[in-house]
Amino acid sequence: MRTLAGSILFLLLFQVCRSQVLAGPMLGPVELRDARIWLEVAPSVRNVQLSFSPKNGGKPTVVGYQGALGKAYNPLTFTLANLEPATTYAYSFIIDGKRVPQGGTFTTKELWQWRRPAPDFSFLTGSCSYVNEPVYDRPGKPYGGDSSIFSAMAREKAAFTMWLGDNWYYREVDYFSPSGLWYRAHRDRSQAILQPLLKAMPHYAIWDDHDYGPNDADKSYILKEESRNVFRNYWPNPSFGENGQGIYTLVSYGDVDIFLMDDRWFRSSNDLPAEVDGKPNAAKRMWGSQELEWLKNALATSRATFKLIATGNQTLNLMSSAECLQNYPIEFNELQDFLRRQKVDGVIFLTGDRHHSEVIRYDRPGTYPLYDVTNSPFTSGVSKVTGTKEEANSARIAGTLVEAQNYSRVTVSGPAKARRLGVEFRGIHGELLGQWSISETELKTP
Ligand SMILES: [Fe+2]
Repeated sequence: MRTLAGSILFLLLFQVCRSQVLAGPMLGPVELRDARIWLEVAPSVRNVQLSFSPKNGGKPTVVGYQGALGKAYNPLTFTLANLEPATTYAYSFIIDGKRVPQGGTFTTKELWQWRRPAPDFSFLTGSCSYVNEPVYDRPGKPYGGDSSIFSAMAREKAAFTMWLGDNWYYREVDYFSPSGLWYRAHRDRSQAILQPLLKAMPHYAIWDDHDYGPNDADKSYILKEESRNVFRNYWPNPSFGENGQGIYTLVSYGDVDIFLMDDRWFRSSNDLPAEVDGKPNAAKRMWGSQELEWLKNALATSRATFKLIATGNQTLNLMSSAECLQNYPIEFNELQDFLRRQKVDGVIFLTGDRHHSEVIRYDRPGTYPLYDVTNSPFTSGVSKVTGTKEEANSARIAGTLVEAQNYSRVTVSGPAKARRLGVEFRGIHGELLGQWSISETELKTP
């Protein structure tokens, strides 16, 4: 009898704790010496503390959350400092004075530079995640698919997940009001099926149109300041643009740099003409001059073997009828000229948005070809190119078209000077649907 009462008490306690933590924990950037951990708590919560210690023993450190609580939505991020490299830490939370069941572990990066070859590692990537909410969705067949793909991703051993945009979908009920923006981010992030993935590995993100504002939204979106605020609160990225503008940033892991681009904040309307009087329209920009200037300098400075430019829209698919960099020829040409003149090696694009996956090759006379690895969709409806003019796209690498829900597992491995980058497109159960790989030796300026 006492055991039954004890069990009921435990269940009640667990329910109370679950209702205090609405989403997370999610790992943000985990560096050599610090780590960010994200959590969303209920409006009723008054105090949140995080306790952490090396997993193999050691005195716990307790840090208190210093920001405001008790708001309608309360996503919060802890930054744990003065950690040791290559060390696994365990963490847990104390909410309003009581320890709650949510918690986990993370392992800081290893200090390999000047000591060992760059580590082999894998990361996950993809885009387009739609969670159905019939009361606000378009009538008819639900747009969101099987979200068990996030369970398959959580089972992967990977260094991090890179979210390539359209990570949630603002709909009409959301994007006319600030509360709608917060609601959508909160609702999608709190889906139970997502939680194991959130704490299994660090997460980084860029946005595309649907998690920025309306479909195909651009710089004229009037709630973009609030949208950026929501993004900053739900993705603990390393930084967010410059001068309070945009969300672009850089993520480094091993000998790979990923340039996280913002294709919305500075974007001119898709409907401006690409050319004026037979010349590229200088007023039609996708990344904008501030961000492109940052990208060029960051690329020139980078010593990474592979330099991955992650951006929402496709960048090299000349047959695309969707949003793409080619419809912004002033920036397409500027970047191409820069890569050639600066002799930037190892560049590959990582893109999303299209609701199918593929690898597009773009030949450049006199130098190495560029590739655009498009990864989409996690859960949104599939958009097939089969049966359209794009089906016969000769720029697509054979065997890479995936017209099903999928995520990508990107693996970087091999000895110095012969590193390989491999991409596997995997389905909702982790099954292999397509693949491609390339050696760093194929991405060198002659
Ligand atoms: Fe998109």
